[in-house]
Amino acid sequence: MNKSNYNGPIIEVKDVEKVFSAGSAEQLHALKDIQLRVEPGEFISLIGPSGCGKSTLLRIIGDLIHPTSGEVRVKGKPAAQARADRDYGIVFQAPVLYGWRNVQRNVELPLQVMGIPRTEWPGRVNAMLELVGLRDFERKYPHQLSGGMQQRVSIARALAFEPSILLMDEPFGALDEITREYMNQELLNVFTRTDVTIIFVTHSIPEAVFLSSRVVVMSARPGMIKDVVDIDLSHPRSFETRETPRYYELVTQLREALREQ
Ligand SMILES: Nc1ncnc2c1ncn2[C@@H]1O[C@H](COP(=O)(O)OP(=O)(O)OP(=O)(O)O)[C@@H](O)[C@H]1O
Ligand SMILES: [Mg+2]
Repeated sequence: MNKSNYNGPIIEVKDVEKVFSAGSAEQLHALKDIQLRVEPGEFISLIGPSGCGKSTLLRIIGDLIHPTSGEVRVKGKPAAQARADRDYGIVFQAPVLYGWRNVQRNVELPLQVMGIPRTEWPGRVNAMLELVGLRDFERKYPHQLSGGMQQRVSIARALAFEPSILLMDEPFGALDEITREYMNQELLNVFTRTDVTIIFVTHSIPEAVFLSSRVVVMSARPGMIKDVVDIDLSHPRSFETRETPRYYELVTQLREALREQ
């Protein structure tokens, strides 16, 4: 089945279960009975207490680890095929940049790895740096940038080969509240200007409400999906969105869903 004639969900998680160290004394039931359908262009946040399996689920979706049972399909294909097809871009909590490469050369890296013709690199790198607001920083090295700027370089790099899915594991967890709100806005701008689908792990209720089309609420031991909250805030969203009554209602609803565990 190829991209052009497939029109089902972009990601389908079916009956996924993950048991670490099965059969040993350290056996840990990390995920149980996970079902999730994601439509193209959705922004899904995963939220829940520490250890409930958010990163594990994200890694299974990205084929970085395998489920004990159940399966993930991406555009109708097994996750391993999606990874081989470069359907994913991944951004982790700490920006994983190469210190000896400047910004431009960090963003070029996946293009080089994927064998994209060198003549296409400058155009793509410039477009991505423009998207994350770092056009004047090509020649800087990671240590010359703030934490938020480094994370924006990571996002530019993850988007450089135009993946259809962006997997983000607490990308703004280490930032202060003001920078974080700014980065939320930047990410939404990127999201609305591309047709990428995003799966986003966070501990922050306001962040999840502001960014998402749906928020998946998880509970721990074993990690399960407790609730899925539809976020019906209209786009474009801005700082004003955070001051509307509906935003407060959704934050409260999500807080209660998390507390009920
Ligand atoms: N490679 C591993 N081997 C054994 N146990 C693991 C492994 N990775 C995760 N776990 C366990 O699985 C459970 C879920 O971990 P996971 O990292 O997915 O949680 P999380 O929801 O992302 O937590 P946090 O919010 O703290 O990042 C935890 O109990 C963790 O100890
Ligand atoms: Mg985690």
